Amino acid sequence: MRNSKGSLVRPVPLPESASRPLVTPLSPSVAYASDTPDALDDQYEGRLQGYTYAREGHPNADVVAARLDAMEGVSGGVVTGSGMAAVSAVLMGLLKTGDHVIGGNQLYGRSMRLMGEDLPRLGIATTLADPCDVAEVRAALRPETRMILVEVVSNPSLRVSDIDGLAELCREQGILLVVDNTFTTPRGFRPFDHGADIVVHSLTKLLAGHSDVMLGYVAARDPDLAARLRVFAVTCGLTPSPFDCWLAERGMLSFELRYDRAQATAAVLADHLAGLSGVKRVIYPMRSDHPDHARAQGLLAGQGGNMVSFELEGGRASANAFTRAADGLCFAPTLGDVGTTLSHPATSSHRALSVEERAQLGLSEGFFRVSVGLEEPEVLMQVFSEAVSAAL
Ligand SMILES: Cc1ncc(COP(=O)(O)O)c(C=O)c1O
Repeated sequence: MRNSKGSLVRPVPLPESASRPLVTPLSPSVAYASDTPDALDDQYEGRLQGYTYAREGHPNADVVAARLDAMEGVSGGVVTGSGMAAVSAVLMGLLKTGDHVIGGNQLYGRSMRLMGEDLPRLGIATTLADPCDVAEVRAALRPETRMILVEVVSNPSLRVSDIDGLAELCREQGILLVVDNTFTTPRGFRPFDHGADIVVHSLTKLLAGHSDVMLGYVAARDPDLAARLRVFAVTCGLTPSPFDCWLAERGMLSFELRYDRAQATAAVLADHLAGLSGVKRVIYPMRSDHPDHARAQGLLAGQGGNMVSFELEGGRASANAFTRAADGLCFAPTLGDVGTTLSHPATSSHRALSVEERAQLGLSEGFFRVSVGLEEPEVLMQVFSEAVSAAL
């Protein structure tokens, strides 16, 4: 459109095309133009499908949510700006002052902080209990308990929660079971099939898989709960960026291949590490010496995942020598990347604990968590053999 003073700034008509793109278009638009106030009214009232304002929803988030919904066997999931945004939406969006929540005693550090600091500040009481021990969780119940939040496989001890037992307890008590499925992913475990009410993910990890986006996801089996979570996420602005969603979708296209490959390598690497002198112990759910081996075989259907933890002989000096010698691997506080990464809980995720508290969890200075990536298994085994010898 033109007049003597020039063109109107918007809208620029899109070029016509009778064919469609293969790749989901990136839609960074913050706002969407409607035809009339009547049409906008219809959109807000749900009579007409259409986007309005990106914090309320946008196509790239919905495409990622639909993929994850299909993987988890649910509908109406919401993609959030990070995994912690998803955890926060559940805890802050569904609980109120006077409620009580039980959390697994080895939750991810920031989830732990929500339980320890933020919820109590809002008058929501919290208790931590061992999710591998349903009797301990039952003993923590109070009349005002509303939910139990657990991870399937704990970080970094890789203990396997008794999800079936917890689901039965929650059903019996009429409370919500919330499962953080980040480590296991829907390829390894589908919590809704085991009685979970709500599932959360850090998509940042294996699902997106390339360490270049931060995103989360939350879904509820009950549509009313799902709607409450969506409204809370929109109100608090937990909405993800379209570009991050676009990148995540790209990563998710290869997720299953990446997961299967990393998992197969992790099983081989775990056995290899167990045979190295200088390694005190190896933790991998599919090894027969894992404390929850029998449960892992049933619950995870023989899938041990891509995470392996192990303990080196010696203290901080050995740990330093190990990471220096393993310089082809990234010593970085994340997991689920295409490349193998190492984390050292004593100086990262569990640094806030005292030495005694860490000792109780078995997290010595020699303890490392490995997120196995896509390298050739033989190459990884060689790098680990050399780095462990250097640490001796
Ligand atoms: C099990 C688990 N849940 C939640 C999160 C938080 O995810 P994000 O870093 O995407 O906020 C993490 C992060 O490492 C995690 O490991």
